[in-house]
Amino acid sequence: MIRFENVSFSYGIKPILTNVSFKVDPGETVVVFGISGSGKSTILKLVAGLIRPQAGRIFINGQDMSQVSEDDWQHLRPQIGFVFQGGALFDSMTVGENVGYYLLEHTDKSMDEIETTVRQTLRFLNLSEDLIDVLPDSLSGGMQRRVAIGRAVAAVDPLIMLYDEPTTGLDPISTRAITEMIFKLRDVKKVASIIVTHEIADAFGVTNHFVVLHDGQVIFNGGSTEMLKCPDVHVREFLAPFLDSVRALPASLNGAT
Ligand SMILES: Nc1ncnc2c1ncn2[C@@H]1O[C@H](COP(=O)(O)OP(=O)(O)OP(=O)(O)O)[C@@H](O)[C@H]1O
Ligand SMILES: [Mg+2]
Repeated sequence: MIRFENVSFSYGIKPILTNVSFKVDPGETVVVFGISGSGKSTILKLVAGLIRPQAGRIFINGQDMSQVSEDDWQHLRPQIGFVFQGGALFDSMTVGENVGYYLLEHTDKSMDEIETTVRQTLRFLNLSEDLIDVLPDSLSGGMQRRVAIGRAVAAVDPLIMLYDEPTTGLDPISTRAITEMIFKLRDVKKVASIIVTHEIADAFGVTNHFVVLHDGQVIFNGGSTEMLKCPDVHVREFLAPFLDSVRALPASLNGAT
């Protein structure tokens, strides 16, 4: 569904990604880890076509994006839902307007049709339809993130969902609610997903395909067992806080005997 082949990207002369290759199968979820500035958000922006690589190729649903015409892209773009880092909503618009934003701006659907889709989306994501007339400011941070997922989903039936740190800084209950949304989109809509996160412990429950970035390069691509054994110093550094917390558990819980 998504394939990067030796993708390199730079802002001006500053290289941000170098020779990045990985793939996400249809319906698969890949979690991308990496320290701040390693290039995680850049990968998502490339998938969404917000920026173009200087070298290498990106395939979406079998199509080489460098060969895709503007028309084809207009067709594909709405099938990619992007939940931006921080989950920013438009403050001056209600939840309903936020969730229906894409339909309002980019389709000629009537207001009634848009409202129907917005309500369906809120229901699908277990969000109250009463939120429709509420302004984002009056919602908790966790609820704003959930609405941001609704906005990314409402556009069309997405093939691909991109989540940039969807649960960072949230309490466990909001985190659980968002994880359930991500699972539902995966299981019901069968979307392929890329999730950028720092929440390593949570990520282990979401998938068993991890990509670790360091300085714009893929330093690991594989499952959790291999990752926990990976000798790369940067992978180990990244996992250290998590490994320490596992070690701190009583032996009966951490699997050590
Ligand atoms: N518009 C831009 N112009 C120039 N450099 C940029 C731009 N956007 C990002 N960068 C740089 O690209 C690098 C990678 O940024 P990116 O946002 O992909 O990192 P990230 O891994 O998502 O980090 P974080 O965890 O902090 O969100 C960083 O060094 C950043 O400063
Ligand atoms: Mg980022």
